[in-house]
Amino acid sequence: MKIIRTVKSAKKLTSHLRLKNKIIGFVPTMGYLHEGHLSLIKIAKKKSDIIFVSIFVNPLQFGPNEDFEKYPRDFKRDEKLCKKAGVDYIFYPKRKEVFPPGFAANVNVVKITEILEGAHRSGHFKGVTTVVLKLFNIIQPHIAVFGQKDAQQAAVITKMVNDLNINTKIIIAPTKREADGLAMSSRNVYLNNEQRKDASYLYKALEYCKESLTPPLSKGKGDYIDLERIKRQMYKIIDSRPSVTKIDYISFNEYETLMPVNSIKETGKNSKILVSLAVRFGKVRLIDNITVLIKK
Ligand code: PAJ
Repeated sequence: MKIIRTVKSAKKLTSHLRLKNKIIGFVPTMGYLHEGHLSLIKIAKKKSDIIFVSIFVNPLQFGPNEDFEKYPRDFKRDEKLCKKAGVDYIFYPKRKEVFPPGFAANVNVVKITEILEGAHRSGHFKGVTTVVLKLFNIIQPHIAVFGQKDAQQAAVITKMVNDLNINTKIIIAPTKREADGLAMSSRNVYLNNEQRKDASYLYKALEYCKESLTPPLSKGKGDYIDLERIKRQMYKIIDSRPSVTKIDYISFNEYETLMPVNSIKETGKNSKILVSLAVRFGKVRLIDNITVLIKK
């Protein structure tokens, strides 16, 4: 496994690999790797000849009051994990290598970035799409794997790739969870013991929602399901935990378009609904989601 620190050497290498007809698989990350990241690497490995992982804490996607400085970093540990996972190259650039002084371009996907996370983290997705497009231009991957954990991010990247005809196939991988259901995240290390225990209730609320939406919904039965009642119950489950300080949102949206879903009656046959939430435990903000297939 090799570590590449400059854009020039990465581009030279990936151009060469492309000429040799190697299929390049790519997993972009901000490091502090966990099993969620490693599961993306495993999927990428199955579909490509050469695996690149990038480790770059992207300043553009953090708001002024967010945790850019504090974001956990441990390159030595990440390096070991990548090696064990069979990664071929880690792209680990310095900040000024990616964003040299005077850098002024950006990529912005509109509409689907203005709701959910976008409504709470102004400029976040513009930072994500800008860095991801740059990384795609540097690594030139045939495929790139993203996690369902960040469902809106995956939808935004997919939209960018489709709208701008980018030659990279996007694969979306399922969310890896701890034994009690908490979605793995580099930010989980910020949680104290009480918050960590309470954080498992996010998944409990999502599971409750899934169970409420899973009974056979044939013959229009689902049309009478009261989504607002389910949402209220989810708020209750999460609010019952003492260390929860704020629920930013609990939301039902169409899976691909992220259009809000107000009632099951509105949804088409066999439509996929994204149920997502964002919850604050003091300064720690966690997001999670599930998808539910509405069979009619
Ligand atoms: P980061 O938070 O490091 O996540 C890197 C990738 O891992 C993302 O695609 C994310 O959705 C996925 N991931 C995180 N937790 C996961 C879990 N529990 N199960 C499965 N996959 C999981 O997302 C980013 O970095 C950045 O925004 C990035 C795309 C690298 C751009 O800077």
